[in-house]
Amino acid sequence: MAFETLVWPKALIAALAVALAAPAVLAEVGAPDTDPVTARGKLLFETVGDVGCSACHGNDASGEIGPNIQGIDIGKIHVALTNVTDMNFITGLTEDDVKAIGAYLLFLNQH
Ligand code: HEC
Repeated sequence: MAFETLVWPKALIAALAVALAAPAVLAEVGAPDTDPVTARGKLLFETVGDVGCSACHGNDASGEIGPNIQGIDIGKIHVALTNVTDMNFITGLTEDDVKAIGAYLLFLNQH
């Protein structure tokens, strides 16, 4: 009994420590005016599908029709591109395009 109540909090604390430590390990993303990948991400974010992600997620990705996606995981972009009905007119993005958009969203989250 006492053992279990002690072990779980420790495991949770360890998991939390890892989760909190992880962002500090991430390098700062370059600014769009100096980093070509972030610049490409910004361009795509503002123009993709003729309207840009910005049309629904806001110019700074903080959310409008769609949710705040600043700093969101690239995996979640893939999931959204596949599953969000409102987004399915956006086609033809390459893996590099999605990575570039992800870099720009990370930049927006850091600034
Ligand atoms: C026409 C409007 C529209 C456009 C354009 C659009 N989105 Fe979305 N997006 C949405 C809506 C609405 C949701 C929320 C869907 C839901 O919750 O079911 C969403 C959800 C998402 C999510 C999931 C967020 C989460 O918390 O998991 C991501 C990531 C995302 N969009 C990224 C993008 C990116 C990147 C682009 C540009 C390539 C884009 N969206 C363009 C409307 C849009």
